[in-house]
Amino acid sequence: MLRKAIALAVLGLACVAGPAAAAGGHIELRHESWSFAGPFGKFDTAQLQRGYKVYREVCAACHGMKLLSFRNLGERGGPFYDAEYKNPNDNPYVKALAADIQVGDIDSETGDAIQRAATPADRFPSPFPNDAAAAASNGGAIPPDLSVIAKARAGGPDYIYSLLTGYVQPPAGLTVTPGMNYNKYFAGDLAPYWTGDPKHVPTGGFIAMPPQLAPDKVTFDDGTKSTIDQQAKDVAAFLMWAAEPKMVERKQFGLGAMVYLLIFTVILYFSYRRVWRNVAH
Ligand code: HEC
Repeated sequence: MLRKAIALAVLGLACVAGPAAAAGGHIELRHESWSFAGPFGKFDTAQLQRGYKVYREVCAACHGMKLLSFRNLGERGGPFYDAEYKNPNDNPYVKALAADIQVGDIDSETGDAIQRAATPADRFPSPFPNDAAAAASNGGAIPPDLSVIAKARAGGPDYIYSLLTGYVQPPAGLTVTPGMNYNKYFAGDLAPYWTGDPKHVPTGGFIAMPPQLAPDKVTFDDGTKSTIDQQAKDVAAFLMWAAEPKMVERKQFGLGAMVYLLIFTVILYFSYRRVWRNVAH
């Protein structure tokens, strides 16, 4: 019995540790102290606004976010939530952001394909009409949709932050494939491209996405200094919000449930004492 229990416990531990170890494998990610970490964490609205700008002005050229609609930006907890406009479709700022973007539609009179300004009800458009076009423009690699990427990669926002800032000079002895870029946080096996000591194959991999960020590439409206680090952090936070827009509510609800259970436990304890008070036990 005891042996069985221990075996089960070990199996459980292996399941918990397994994926994390496999993904983190070789190199420690850069850790940022995110405002949304921990049980009381909240998204930083200003950071989400900056992150949206980085996505829109840089990443959207190659990556779609098809699970997001413009109105989501104005929902409670979103980057452009305004308490005056409970219905985000009425939020003038969200309307203006949407109107900046062209989306495909059908002319209702002629049936022709047209482009028109987006409304809050529209989804974020994808930059390429299909996967073949996306691959053709990116050296054969398809830029993944970023809607839930922060949940789809181990390390989440830490991984995105690390990846975007992980384009370093390839170590001497590594032959980088033409059209590819060395990134020390991207998963890969570099042994075939390594001419140095086989025991010390460099960590990282070759990624088809070239480095995207540069100082002052995006001008932040709130005056924050626009460094590569800042841009990477902000867009990672934005992608985390996009992947789990209700995270703050989920945590607050969980906390409320814990407090409720605690109070319930105390009441239960005293009623137990009261019920059994005259019984010898
Ligand atoms: C010029 C086109 C282009 C732009 C602009 C671009 N990317 Fe990419 N991105 C790619 C391609 C292509 C891939 C697929 C790379 C591969 O699989 O080798 C990719 C992959 C990714 C991945 C997935 C990496 C993985 O683990 O599989 C993330 C995350 C990502 N990009 C984030 C971003 C962010 C954030 C921005 C904006 C700051 C951005 N990208 C801008 C082309 C682009």
